[in-house]
Amino acid sequence: MSISILTDRISIETKNTLYVMQMLDGVLPIHLYYGKKISEDQLPAIAIDKPRSFSPYFKINGKKYSFDNLKQEISFYGYGDFRATALRVLDITSGSDVTNYKFNRANSFSGRKEILGLPYSEGKCETLELVYEDEVTQSELYLYYTVFFDTDVIARYFVLKNNGNKELKILKAMSLSLDLPDGEYDLISLRGKYNYERTAHRDPIYGGNHRIMSRRGSSSHHFNPFFMVVDRNADEETGDAYAFNFVYSGSFLDEIELGQDGLRIMTGLGDECFSYLLKQGESFSSPEAVMTYSEKGIGQASRNMHNFVRSSILPDSRDKKRPIVLNSWEAVYFDIDQQVMLDFAEEAAKTGIDTFVMDDGWFGARRNDKAGLGDWTPTPELFPEGLAKFVEKVHSKGINFGIWIEPEMVNPDSDLYRAHPEWVLRDGGREPLLSRNQLVLDMANPEVVEYLKKSLDKCFDGIDINYFKWDMNRNMSNAISPYLPVERKGETQYRYMLGVYDLFRWFKKRFPDAMLENCSGGGGRYDLGMMKYSTQIWTSDNTEAKYRVHIQHGSSYGYPMSTMSCHVSNCHGQCEDERMLDYCFRVAINGPLGYEFNILKVEPKVKDIISKQIEEYRSYEKLILNGDFYRLKNPTVDGCYAYYITNSDQTEILIAYLQNNSDPSETEHILKIFSAKAELNYRNTVTNEILSGAALRAGIKVKADTAERYGITWHFVAE
Ligand code: GLA
Repeated sequence: MSISILTDRISIETKNTLYVMQMLDGVLPIHLYYGKKISEDQLPAIAIDKPRSFSPYFKINGKKYSFDNLKQEISFYGYGDFRATALRVLDITSGSDVTNYKFNRANSFSGRKEILGLPYSEGKCETLELVYEDEVTQSELYLYYTVFFDTDVIARYFVLKNNGNKELKILKAMSLSLDLPDGEYDLISLRGKYNYERTAHRDPIYGGNHRIMSRRGSSSHHFNPFFMVVDRNADEETGDAYAFNFVYSGSFLDEIELGQDGLRIMTGLGDECFSYLLKQGESFSSPEAVMTYSEKGIGQASRNMHNFVRSSILPDSRDKKRPIVLNSWEAVYFDIDQQVMLDFAEEAAKTGIDTFVMDDGWFGARRNDKAGLGDWTPTPELFPEGLAKFVEKVHSKGINFGIWIEPEMVNPDSDLYRAHPEWVLRDGGREPLLSRNQLVLDMANPEVVEYLKKSLDKCFDGIDINYFKWDMNRNMSNAISPYLPVERKGETQYRYMLGVYDLFRWFKKRFPDAMLENCSGGGGRYDLGMMKYSTQIWTSDNTEAKYRVHIQHGSSYGYPMSTMSCHVSNCHGQCEDERMLDYCFRVAINGPLGYEFNILKVEPKVKDIISKQIEEYRSYEKLILNGDFYRLKNPTVDGCYAYYITNSDQTEILIAYLQNNSDPSETEHILKIFSAKAELNYRNTVTNEILSGAALRAGIKVKADTAERYGITWHFVAE
């Protein structure tokens, strides 16, 4: 059992970590320790300073304590804890937003409970349940800790039940709260913007409150919910590293506060884009947040997350070959023509590309981004014999077929909007703002979700579609659901996500054989909520390899390579230059490979090169999808990006060195392959040269090139 509940102590063990709470005077669980496994006598003494001056206190068994300096499992607003708190609940009748949830009982069970309507982690696990009660509001709080022993991950969420006769409103909801001791910490976060998402930033954590958040209704290109808190001296190989993420795709808040008594770390829905009315007898479930720890540095914390995402979040697709797609978007944009599409499919099939994806522009009046979105009917002029016949023809070329959809949105110039102007998010008297000429459907309205199910069902019924690309191309403004009653308008964004997840669940059941790739203008919803339903995510709309290395490097902190859909494109004439084409390919094999350019316009030799690339990629695809990933060089800091991947027994290793800019000084980089087994001999599968594991551990030397865009990979197998 990884959970032990004693009268004075509750502890959780995973393969390499230990999490301990101490029962203060037998009645209040106080956070004591989270870190590497240590023995009982090494545990810190519970740090309870006497309440400081100015700190309000309470008494247990005659002893004074203050919430102002106790480390807590969950904290409440208004009752003496002046740090950022996890939960703020308003009693609407009395106007008070003070609560004091007192611990009542703890129990554990194998497996986990379902979180109704929301995505959550699954697999072999055990769960700890702590139950608290607030006497005045008569509400019960259930804290859940689901323990994934093998991957060193603890997942947390809460359920709040209103058992009383008052109406309550949740004003702030944080799913995970962790109080760490005072120390010197750095924050690693993934920041960016559209077309340049998730670049890794490392900043010292200074005193004060630091909030990483999205108010956009999606987890966003700008601030990803994933972050790490690491020891100031930690590096890829050594030092304490804590990593956190949120299994949710909407607005969120990561809050990190360094104050007089240590560091408080929280992840949840926050307090700006969320409130929730809890009537008598109702309960509310927060989304799940997850955390891991490693004493072996930032790299191992990333690998813990990779293992966890692969085993407990992603749909089961680990050992399956991924499709290698040719996507029509960058080749023709909205200019869809049936014959051209069939020619694309035919040419693609000859190269070893196995799936042709028809992107935007195939339905309703969608000839550009100004019209037709929402009308999920193939345009009759484009497909006079219907979509089914066209897809049959694609298949007859010996290739699978995929298609683009964006179910959550509508153009005002569409039949759907003309029929239902009340089905979009809008606030009272104001005209909602447009973005990319589109409005956001009110997914908080079950009628809208049901309509979409019917519409997609009718559109794709009986058609053999092997892959869907599900897009979402704007952020929310005027984010008020016309459907919800006045007192529930603050629930719009949360209920929007429930509607989206409902549609995803239906979709996966309705089209069980099709693979789903998520997208939001590239990586605007690159999060664990989306990953629950999608095998991979379109990493970024930026297909210029030079910028992609930063995006892929940043993404690797929290997300496994198997999620990062990577295409070789022709956005800067890469196909006219063999060196560039090779560089793009070396960059793209950081995840599932695909292509995105006009295959009818490239020289025959480009197609030969693509065939060879595909053969090479397939020869080590398993490693890319399932291997252990080690970062070696950070493109932002080191002028090059380098990494390696190994299989679980280190008998196969793929090493990549990628250099964006010319380096006239020809810097010599040494890539040390720490995981190589010293006693083994490794054969380079291209040159057949043999290198000992010891030599790989000592490092491969690479001289930086004087020209731009230089990439090499080495693939070794043990003899
Ligand atoms: C988004 C996607 C692109 C493409 C377009 C189509 O921007 O990220 O890949 O699908 O939409 O409109």
